Amino acid sequence: MIGEYPIVRPRRLRKNQLIRDLVAETIIDIKKLVMPIFVKDGIASPEEIESMPGQYRFPLNEHLIKFVEDCYSKGIRNFIIFGIPSKKDPIGSEAFSQDGIVQRCVRMLREVFGDKILIITDLCLCQYTDHGHCGIIRMSRRGMYVDNDDTLKIYAKIAVSQAEAGADIVAPSGMMDGQVRAIREALDAAGYEDVLIMSYSVKYASSFYGPFREAAYSAPKIGDRRTYQMDPRNAYEALKEVELDLREGADIIMVKPALAYLDIIRLVKEYFPQVPLAAYNVSGEYSMVKAAAKLGWIDEKAIMIEIVTAIFRAGADIVITYHAKELAEVLQ
Ligand code: PBG
Repeated sequence: MIGEYPIVRPRRLRKNQLIRDLVAETIIDIKKLVMPIFVKDGIASPEEIESMPGQYRFPLNEHLIKFVEDCYSKGIRNFIIFGIPSKKDPIGSEAFSQDGIVQRCVRMLREVFGDKILIITDLCLCQYTDHGHCGIIRMSRRGMYVDNDDTLKIYAKIAVSQAEAGADIVAPSGMMDGQVRAIREALDAAGYEDVLIMSYSVKYASSFYGPFREAAYSAPKIGDRRTYQMDPRNAYEALKEVELDLREGADIIMVKPALAYLDIIRLVKEYFPQVPLAAYNVSGEYSMVKAAAKLGWIDEKAIMIEIVTAIFRAGADIVITYHAKELAEVLQ
């Protein structure tokens, strides 16, 4: 297959930029990037997130519109919205309120941008519950636990409220068993058969979410998320999670985080090549790049391109990344 030894010269394919571009296997397409946006109730101007330099919590006003316009002009079309409410309670009522921060945000963006942008809404409870868990908590004799099936009823309400506001895609990230089915049934029953579900199917209990939890004030007050998010020691379990989500009706699946989980992205893509696969280049991955760049220890732009390229090369079809806007600027 590789022919005569003396004439094999792989370096011919690396001779100059034009040849390297010609034979490159992986190309970053800006249309396949998703830019995360944090929106916060009760503020008038954007707040920079300390642990995520260059990322902001936006108020629902012209500052947000300008930011989205700016992204749009650089070629970004896809956004995922995370809400930061002004009130929290045990069941996260603000997450499914028609007047919730995310619902108002989606209505506003839809009004201004129509169908020119794709709006994805993160669907979870942790920013909205006073205890910070992604589901409803109950006490048993053995202590606190997150009640799976009661949480599903709330997820169903959140999904319908987000669809009603105008979301194109809802993205459940709470890792409750059966969440995709519960959401699909609720959306269909409410007449939103055309709203897609992008499921955080393979979401690990990761320390790489640290900066996000600071950004969105969503760290659990007691315990951790290891009874619902996956154990980082497991690879093949990802296949089970994906299979279940597909049976339940997920349109797009996701692996999260991305960088320390490139093997999982590859594994899932190889077993389910027919399904669109997203990967989430999470907050901690972003913050590490920013921190090292600030110290002058790395070439930030080159590292950012290399990281996102690697995630696509591993098998992701869609990459959610805080670098999206900067990347679009650099690649434009
Ligand atoms: C909510 C949610 C989290 C992230 C996305 N959705 C946090 C968590 O599970 O604690 C993390 C994103 C990031 O770190 O960039 N469940």
